Formats: sequence, structure tokens, C-alpha cells
Amino acid sequence: MIRFRQTRDSQAERDRHADVDLSVDDLIMPYFVVEGRDRQEAVPSMPGVSRLSIDRLVDEARGLYCAGVSKVLLFGVVDDKDKDERGSAAYSSDNLIARAVRALKSALPGMTVITDICLCEYTSHGHCGLLRPSVSEAGALDVDNDSTLPLLAEMARTHAMAGADIVAPSAMMDGQVAAIRARLDEDPQTEDCQVMGYSAKYASAFYGPFRDAAGSAPGDASASWPGFKLPANRKTYQMDYRTRTQGLEEIAADIQEGAAYVMVKPAMPYLDILARATDKFGLGTESAHVKMVAYQVSGEYAMLCAAAENGWLDRDRVIYESLIGIKRAGAELIITYFAKEVAEKRLTLNGYLK
Ligand code: PBG
Repeated sequence: MIRFRQTRDSQAERDRHADVDLSVDDLIMPYFVVEGRDRQEAVPSMPGVSRLSIDRLVDEARGLYCAGVSKVLLFGVVDDKDKDERGSAAYSSDNLIARAVRALKSALPGMTVITDICLCEYTSHGHCGLLRPSVSEAGALDVDNDSTLPLLAEMARTHAMAGADIVAPSAMMDGQVAAIRARLDEDPQTEDCQVMGYSAKYASAFYGPFRDAAGSAPGDASASWPGFKLPANRKTYQMDYRTRTQGLEEIAADIQEGAAYVMVKPAMPYLDILARATDKFGLGTESAHVKMVAYQVSGEYAMLCAAAENGWLDRDRVIYESLIGIKRAGAELIITYFAKEVAEKRLTLNGYLK
């Protein structure tokens, strides 16, 4: 008999045997940014999360920074009237996110600012890239990979020029990291901006609340393509989750294309992918310079909040346990809507949750 219980019989003993921990330095806080001033709109399916105008974002980020979280991820949300078929508002000069980056960097120079690079929040049809008539199905539309790449690269360039530290392409177009890296490398002013690939991003139902927040669900293309059928979902570009190995191939490709960070998304249902990716590409391997990131997405957040609100789960303890689980699987950084709450409750967490 091995007396494992000796390792658990006091708080001090349990602390000595713990080899995974959670720090505020591990956390990245996502924000949804809207035009206007003094605007704050609650997102019903994500309790505690709001869309913020740039002035409110800066106030909010100041509080986050004081609580100890020094990394944010920005999503732009534009009004329907500002959307078009090509998602022009994503990469127009002085676009919403470029202005948000500038404001954040001037108020909080120590804040690491990451921007999401994707067209879905800006296209009238809600897809992550440009549409074209399908080559395989008459009367249907497809999302066109190669013509989307220069637009993603241009979007990344405008954010990097504004001072973004990291750009994070999430459109799941093949070659997006290489296209962005090449564009950033053309100019000394943008060459130090890093790329965080949403490398293993699955076509997940857990993004539902995000699409409410960002108004980015695939919708309508009838204005530009009368009579054509729009793809109803993102399954032709985001990954099918019924595969064990493709996530690792996607990650390998992003590393080869020059990503400094690679991501698995969502987090909780995909910890196997994260763990295997960490074994293959994480610390102690030939690509140890690349950091592993996991995204605890909107649906994971909504699910835990809902159970806690019903009194079915203890909020603090499930937040902490879920994040430790993601760390244990190998994430060095976690994007989570709980980031600020975890940082603000830090003392309680240390005292209560071990
Ligand atoms: C943009 C994007 C999405 C998310 C991050 N970037 C939505 C999607 O792919 O539909 C989801 C994040 C979340 O659910 O919290 N493509």
C-alpha cells in the first residue's frame, strides 16, 4: 500500500504537492468595443460582460491593470449600417480597433494589447471571409480563402501601426499567419508585432453567446448575392471536432508560418488537444519559444455563470478549478472572461480555494 493520503492530510502538505498554479500573469481579458462615447451595453447571454465605447474601455482596463491583469484581447463590434460585404470597417484607416489600441496604449503603456483579426464582426453576411459563388454547388456561396488573406493582413497592419503588441487571426483561413507575418515584416514600424494564431479553432456551439455579443452570427447575403444560398455555419473553415490529430497539424503549420503564440479553442472540451499540443510543441521541445494559449470561450463562461446563478455550483471554486485544469493541460496563457474577477478576488482565492 502506498499512503497517498499522507500527501493530502493538511493544507501545508497539499500545497507542497501542488505543481500547477494560477497567476494573474496567465490571464488575458477579452473586451468588446463599440463606437460612441459613454456607451456600455450589457450582453444578456454573458452576465457581467458589456460592449464598451473606447472611453469606457480605457476606464475598465485601468481597473483591470490595477487588479494585476496586464493583457487584453479586443474585438470590434460595429453597427449594422457600418457593415458591408467586404468587411471594410475592419481595415479602413483609423478603424475602431486601431483607435481603441491607441487610446489604451497612451493611457496604459504597460498593457499588452492583443487584437482579434477576423472579418465576421464587420461583414454584412457574418462570415469570416469574402464570399464567392461555390465551385461545387450551383447557386450556393463559399467563403473564399485566398482573396480574404490580404484583407486580414491589412487589418493586422492597421492595428500594429496603432501600437498593438500582438495580432490574433481567428478567421481560420489557411495561410493567414504567413500572410499577416509577411505584411508586418515589410515595415520596421510593424515588424515587432507578434502573431497569436487561433490555430486549433473548432466549429463549436460554445461560441453562441459571443455571436450575440459581437452581432456576428452568419446572416444574410441577399443584398449583394440575390438568389444565392449563404453557408449557414462556419464548418467549411473552422475545424470539425471529430478529429484527434488535425488540431496538431494546424498548430504545426502556424508555428511554421511564424506564430509566436498558438491557441486551442474552446478550452474545456478540448483539453486533450491542448495537452498533446503541449507535449509536442511546448516547453522542452524544439518549438519551446512558442507559447501555448487556451481560450475559455463565451459558452464556457455562460455555462458556469448560469449554474452558479442557480446555486448549483460554487462560482469561485468552479472558476478556479476550470482555470487550473486548463493550466494543468499545458496552457501558459488563458483567455477568459473571468480574468478580472479572478484578479479582484485573488486574496479570497488564495485563502479559500486551495
Ligand atoms: C471571430 C471569433 C469568434 C470567437 C473569437 N473570435 C466567434 C466565431 O468564430 O464565431 C469566439 C469567442 C468566444 O466564444 O468567446 N471569428
